[in-house]
Amino acid sequence: MLRKVCATRYAAPLREGGSLPGIVEADDDGLYVVKFRAAGQGRKALVAEVIVGELARSAGLPVPEIVLVEVPPELGRTEPDPEINELVTGSAGLNCGIDFLPGALDYNPARPAEIDPVRASEIVWLDAFTSNVDRTPRNPNLLVWHHATWLIDHGAALYQHHAGGDLVARAHEPFPLIADHVLLPLAAELARADARLAAVLDRGRVAAAVALVPDEWLGADPAADREEYVAYLCARLQAPRGFVAEAEAARVA
Ligand SMILES: Nc1ncnc2c1ncn2[C@@H]1O[C@H](COP(=O)(O)OP(=O)(O)OP(=O)(O)O)[C@@H](O)[C@H]1O
Ligand SMILES: [Mg+2]
Repeated sequence: MLRKVCATRYAAPLREGGSLPGIVEADDDGLYVVKFRAAGQGRKALVAEVIVGELARSAGLPVPEIVLVEVPPELGRTEPDPEINELVTGSAGLNCGIDFLPGALDYNPARPAEIDPVRASEIVWLDAFTSNVDRTPRNPNLLVWHHATWLIDHGAALYQHHAGGDLVARAHEPFPLIADHVLLPLAAELARADARLAAVLDRGRVAAAVALVPDEWLGADPAADREEYVAYLCARLQAPRGFVAEAEAARVA
């Protein structure tokens, strides 16, 4: 289960974030970057944030703690900015919180020395597996903190789930956008990454990550939705993994 906290104060907006995430203080005295359920990207972005963030963690990649943040209806009421007031007030209920890493620096693709080829390859592999369109040079969504590179912002992953219809049928669709991945030029160890990660991320780990999504972000039949996510991800994990060949082809192109 994800830890659950209650929001006590809306501290500041993160204006650079497209979904207008905010820094929120909670009743455990922690600060969290909160992705609001009423944001334009919808609750499916929160679903992707949890599933992909927890798959990454399960694979041993650094991801800040993800918590469920209960937003009380009155949290946004004193907020003078009408856009934020509406967003926070409309998000009463469970939202997605990511532990705020104080003093973290945005990853700078011009100074990539902090990432070795194996780690870079593992991050590319994860993003290819989960169809994450949001790790580009313009918007790397990687933070450098305490001598490690941390993965954030997985809300745009699993983008096929926005189309509706049969998700599993789309499990083998190509993902050409992997060519824009910020770490692709450093990902010289994709075969090694594939051997390790495909062995670690078995059906049990996939199901465990999907199980962390709260019912209220899913549809009328949450159990059926969860089964669909598990089936989709497991179909992608089955050898031969086309997404690995696709990433390797884009790297050498
Ligand atoms: N856990 C965190 N600790 C410290 N800073 C963070 C954290 N999460 C996000 N940030 C900062 O806030 C910015 C916006 O967050 P994030 O990328 O998650 O939001 P977003 O709305 O999904 O953004 P976009 O869609 O524009 O990429 C990040 O680029 C980063 O600078
Ligand atoms: Mg971002």
